Amino acid sequence: MQKRENSLLKKNGPIGIFDSGIGGLTVAKAITDLLPNESIIYFGDTKHLPYGEKSDVAIKHYAHKICHFLISQGCKCIVVACNTAATAAYESLAADELINVPIVDVVNPLVDEVIKLGFTEVGIIATRATIRSDRYREKLLSKNSKINVKQMATPLLVPMIEEGFYQNNISKEIIQKYLAHSSFKDVETLLLACTHYPLIKDEIQAILGNQIKVLDSTLVAALRLKEVLKKNNIEQANKNSSKHKFLVSDLTDSFKRTAAHFYRNEIDLEWNDIWKG
Ligand code: DGL
Repeated sequence: MQKRENSLLKKNGPIGIFDSGIGGLTVAKAITDLLPNESIIYFGDTKHLPYGEKSDVAIKHYAHKICHFLISQGCKCIVVACNTAATAAYESLAADELINVPIVDVVNPLVDEVIKLGFTEVGIIATRATIRSDRYREKLLSKNSKINVKQMATPLLVPMIEEGFYQNNISKEIIQKYLAHSSFKDVETLLLACTHYPLIKDEIQAILGNQIKVLDSTLVAALRLKEVLKKNNIEQANKNSSKHKFLVSDLTDSFKRTAAHFYRNEIDLEWNDIWKG
């Protein structure tokens, strides 16, 4: 969260949430469940996904443009729901003068949770770009230099989940293959550092057993957002007035179908290509 000009912030404004696509709806769901009075504008950059396979330069470019769009829509706060975008661009978004509202991401709250729970043997699974950034390890070590981090890119999991392959034998086999990697043998916690992985959290927990605490960012990010809204005195005071918009930069039937899996409710995705023109 960066210092922002409170006078410009409007309690009634929506919260802008963005992701590379529809996976960030897992974070949006945690937010709308925890903060039912708040309105959200969700933006999924489906035209450019997967961010996990993109360069940092491209991801930063997308992230700034989306945040500027969300600001233009009157958002009072921004949530970077995408782990890949947060690891590549959070610092640069926080330094962007045009983004004059608080920014919450999914990385810092999860790092703080690990520190709070006192874990020192930490495993991380995420997209290629998130692992390449090394951001989780750097942030964890900056808070506790005794932490050992074992991290692995698990690029098959995003398409697997998007195709609806979870809680079945195929997903079990793929997850088992990844987690059998010897580096995860001694971890105390495994961080699911990707928007999509909450959908396979139970499967992962079952495979790892109860000795290893499986953590994801959804609730901790929503709780951090709640704190930030309170601290900036921009919580929505009106009850029963929340309105949600779910925008995507490219709209296909498959995105429409899959969105409900991530949000756990039927939603209407609207096409809004902020890149054209
Ligand atoms: N939203 C991305 C993340 O959390 C996963 C999908 C993608 O690679 O775009 O890292």
